[in-house]
Amino acid sequence: PDDGLALTPPMGFNNWNSTQCRAEFDEEMVKGIADIFVDKGLKDAGYEYVNLDDCWALPARDADGKLVPDPARFPGGIKAVADYVHAKGLKLGIYTSAGTKTCNDAGFPGALGHEYSDARQFADWGVDYLKYDNCNNQGVDARQRYTTMRDALKAASATTGRPIVYSICEWGENRPWEWAADVGQLWRTTGDISDNWGSMLSIMKQNLPLARYAGPGHWNDPDMLEVGNGGMTDTEYRTHFSMWSVMAAPLLIGSDLRSASDETFEILGNEEVIAVDQDPLGKQGTVLSSEDGRWVVAKELADGSRAVALFNETGSPQRIATSAKAVGLPGAAAYTLRDLWRHKSYNTAGTISATVPAHGTVLVRVSADGDWAENPPAVELALD
Ligand code: GLA
Repeated sequence: PDDGLALTPPMGFNNWNSTQCRAEFDEEMVKGIADIFVDKGLKDAGYEYVNLDDCWALPARDADGKLVPDPARFPGGIKAVADYVHAKGLKLGIYTSAGTKTCNDAGFPGALGHEYSDARQFADWGVDYLKYDNCNNQGVDARQRYTTMRDALKAASATTGRPIVYSICEWGENRPWEWAADVGQLWRTTGDISDNWGSMLSIMKQNLPLARYAGPGHWNDPDMLEVGNGGMTDTEYRTHFSMWSVMAAPLLIGSDLRSASDETFEILGNEEVIAVDQDPLGKQGTVLSSEDGRWVVAKELADGSRAVALFNETGSPQRIATSAKAVGLPGAAAYTLRDLWRHKSYNTAGTISATVPAHGTVLVRVSADGDWAENPPAVELALD
């Protein structure tokens, strides 16, 4: 939508991938994540939204039809959590479904038929972001359901002065990329991610062809990050984070940072990779080649440079090569290749190549401003 929200892909946290509905999803966790965002520099790196997923509410509305936070998880209510998060300069997100109930079997209330009052309640609590799911939708047309909530959020924002980012979660079933740019700031393009290589890869492959639909204020959402949840290697998590950034995907951390490893913080906090995701031009990268699982994906950036991911889908090391010309930068005498994981710069006359480990990604930023005097010439990037 043309409302100035989410001009770059939203960044933050959501509890679902680490806790689902288990008891550790509670006020303590949410506050703990907000603390860590500030203390560990993630806020400075751009992470802003602390988002609650399913299971925050009680199964029944109150006598006035209002949603009731589960007192076991959120004894102080949602407003108190929002106040805490806001006091840290961060924002709070919440979740419900465009149906009669949310997705969890316990049957928490959905907003279908309650759009205006629920949106107003969220705004009154100080909520800044809504993820709106698709379960129990009673077969009502998706575009209609999601548009009604858009209008309800708009009305609530107008009354309370609180803008609310709107995340459409209908799993790509109704081709939202074709109609949702004017409805929400982001829309899921696939089913749910899980914390394994096959799932991450399959979601990436479904999301890559949708590049032309993404732009400032309207993003493809290939689901939240699994980095740090333990089901992939750190090499695979670096690929996950690299590819989500090259796809200009929302970067919603999905691991419990209270017990995260140094390596997890290093991946999620890599500001050179984040800059690719958050580039103001807002273009999603496109696939230049993918022969035999050797992928080259390039993203145009606002300063005229390109982010180039050399991604090895295969189970053995591969040499992956492209050129400055192929990524859209012909004609310079020399180019700078900035390796965004090693944090080193090289010069090249135009070749961009690396030996990439199994399931790994070499991510470089290519600029047509090479200076032979400053950087060592034409080395092959050989990573891990
Ligand atoms: C759906 C969504 C997930 C998560 C769960 C919660 O599956 O796609 O992201 O929100 O519901 O129940």
